[in-house]
Amino acid sequence: MSALSSSPFAEHIGKHPGEPNVMEPALIKDPFGGYGALREQGPVVRGRFMDDSPVWFVTRFEEVRQVLRDQRFVNNPASPLLGSQAEEMPMLRLLEQMGLPEHLRVYLLGSILNSDAPDHTRLRRLVSRAFTARKITDLRPRVEQIADELLARLPEHAEDGIVDLIQHFAYPLPITVICELVGIPEADRPQWRAWGADLVSLEPDRLSTSFPAMIDHTHELIRERRGALTDDLLSELIRAQDDDGSRLSDVEMVTMVFALVFAGHETTAHLIGNGTAALLTHPDQLRLLKDDPALLPRAVHELMRWCGPVHMTQLRYASEDIDLAGTPIRKGDAVQLILVSANFDPRHYSDPDRLDLTRHPAGHAENHVGFGHGMHYCLGATLARQEGEVAFGKLLAHYPDVALGVEPEALERAPMPGSWRLNSLLLRLA
Ligand code: HEM
Repeated sequence: MSALSSSPFAEHIGKHPGEPNVMEPALIKDPFGGYGALREQGPVVRGRFMDDSPVWFVTRFEEVRQVLRDQRFVNNPASPLLGSQAEEMPMLRLLEQMGLPEHLRVYLLGSILNSDAPDHTRLRRLVSRAFTARKITDLRPRVEQIADELLARLPEHAEDGIVDLIQHFAYPLPITVICELVGIPEADRPQWRAWGADLVSLEPDRLSTSFPAMIDHTHELIRERRGALTDDLLSELIRAQDDDGSRLSDVEMVTMVFALVFAGHETTAHLIGNGTAALLTHPDQLRLLKDDPALLPRAVHELMRWCGPVHMTQLRYASEDIDLAGTPIRKGDAVQLILVSANFDPRHYSDPDRLDLTRHPAGHAENHVGFGHGMHYCLGATLARQEGEVAFGKLLAHYPDVALGVEPEALERAPMPGSWRLNSLLLRLA
């Protein structure tokens, strides 16, 4: 918990009894139990955001999906729909407290995730062409090849027969896939990975150094690619911009590139890590998967529900007064959708705590909110699921006797609100 106690937000913890702050150590250490208890208090519960602003936690499956479908809740904290209150929005206050220079804020606020219709519709249409089911299926052989190569080299990284899967497989696989897709040169990828770590660290010093460097670098990359277009996504975005300059501003282009690179690997890496740890600590479920690899797609749905890496969405803001499951939400109020408590809601699942790889019927769409829901539903869900299927399938094919290299109690999680990630996953390959 050292990163937490040194965080500039630590001082807010416990300041409002009965209104838990997302930074509270108990919620970070055991989000399943902590948010589970809040869910049983009610579908809409008062809480606090990192910067101490009041927020409403929405905790149950049906209500979470209801808010995510309701366009009266907006994502852009500076939306004109919020009127004069916009400056008070928690996300804006947070950016200020993180020391992000004013002129750089547009790069965060202009992202697809922080935008609402019609901007969101325009941005989403531009990139979704690269993420159709067909395009992702075409990528599969390449994803498998990358996985095979990384797994074959795992023993080179082993010490006394033990190797860290997070370091040598869970990160390199998705970062290679997304960088190839977007068109990030191989030589730059270690730098992107380091920036990703700085951005999620919540440490103002690291953020305020890395963020401007990353923005400059991305502008430069776009300038270079403009002179030599290829068939990567970056070139496609440049072409779309050239066809009709109004479709994508320079800021939006830069923001889109880093949003895709980070969303594409900082999450998927931890689906691979969390999912592998879950399988190795549930021998009955592992046996099912080994006996029937065709179970993989259903298994990934369940691993996303049971140990998906994203526990909360971005904040939403009420653009008018709204009655939410009997709770009056005032215009301008911030709402935090708690995916982890929704995914374990006993009103929706029988025996929710049980990991059951056969829970999701064959061929059936996923039955969880680990990728969100509604118009901001994860753009990369099909890709992430495919990477999960390849990662788990190939790991067990290469190393059928793989086992945890430490006691399950020794697995350490990063102390981050809203995110469920292992610092390392030490495995014994055989
Ligand atoms: C949105 C989770 C992988 C790109 C989201 C949201 C969630 C999520 C929960 C919705 C957030 C909200 O509504 O506030 C995950 C998880 C992943 C994953 C758990 C891996 C296991 C990926 C990948 C990409 C990606 C591989 C790469 C393309 C995006 C984008 C959005 C998004 C661009 C914003 C979509 C929009 O605003 O319309 N993701 N994601 N994600 N994700 Fe993912």
